[in-house]
Amino acid sequence: MQRKRYSAEFKRVTASRKRPWIESSDALSLFPTLVWKIQLRAEVHEPIDASALGLLHALRQGLPELKAGEAWQSGHALHGREELRELCGCVSRAARSVLQFLKIGTEAIEITGCWVNLYAPGASHRVHSHPNNYLSAVYYVRTWPGADAINFHDPRSQAGIIRPPVTQLTGINTDQVVVRVKNGTLLVFPSYLQHSVDANAGGESRVSVSFNLMFSAFAEEMSSPLWGDQ
Ligand SMILES: [Fe+2]
Repeated sequence: MQRKRYSAEFKRVTASRKRPWIESSDALSLFPTLVWKIQLRAEVHEPIDASALGLLHALRQGLPELKAGEAWQSGHALHGREELRELCGCVSRAARSVLQFLKIGTEAIEITGCWVNLYAPGASHRVHSHPNNYLSAVYYVRTWPGADAINFHDPRSQAGIIRPPVTQLTGINTDQVVVRVKNGTLLVFPSYLQHSVDANAGGESRVSVSFNLMFSAFAEEMSSPLWGDQ
């Protein structure tokens, strides 16, 4: 666990032979930001990928081929398409696992948006988040060397007020973390978490499928105030 690693590292820095005035020390990781990474088995993701590519081909029929630096997104209601039924099932199950992991007392979450992204060589995606949802996900159908990463940005915007130079970039002193992905990788993350994609430096177009998920009955069951009447 990260928490143990931080504690061990800080204990090493404050070791008693260097700091005899310290009895004990710890590094508390408060409010960590989590991204959940799942790799689908080859026998599961290969047919999913073939089906997604078939759908992409059908959706783009008649459209001109993308030029270098261009990107294309489908409409946002592809979760209703039979071609993505298996993939949507994996995403829904992954989201329920995340809710269980977070100890949220419901597993009733549903896909509210789903779309295919096609990024030609040279195409990038600016920093953005996915408002009005609780979880978002992205599944990678076709990645290539140079087109196999996503950047996540520090959600604590005020932490950027002072950024001293560091001797080594680590997960706790950076404002951006690069997550490597490959075909069949599924990432789930909080919808508020800003992310971006660097320009595709590979020779082929990158294909991914994005998802938004929201609690099925948020207004009815989950939105009452956390404080009581008295
Ligand atoms: Fe996104």
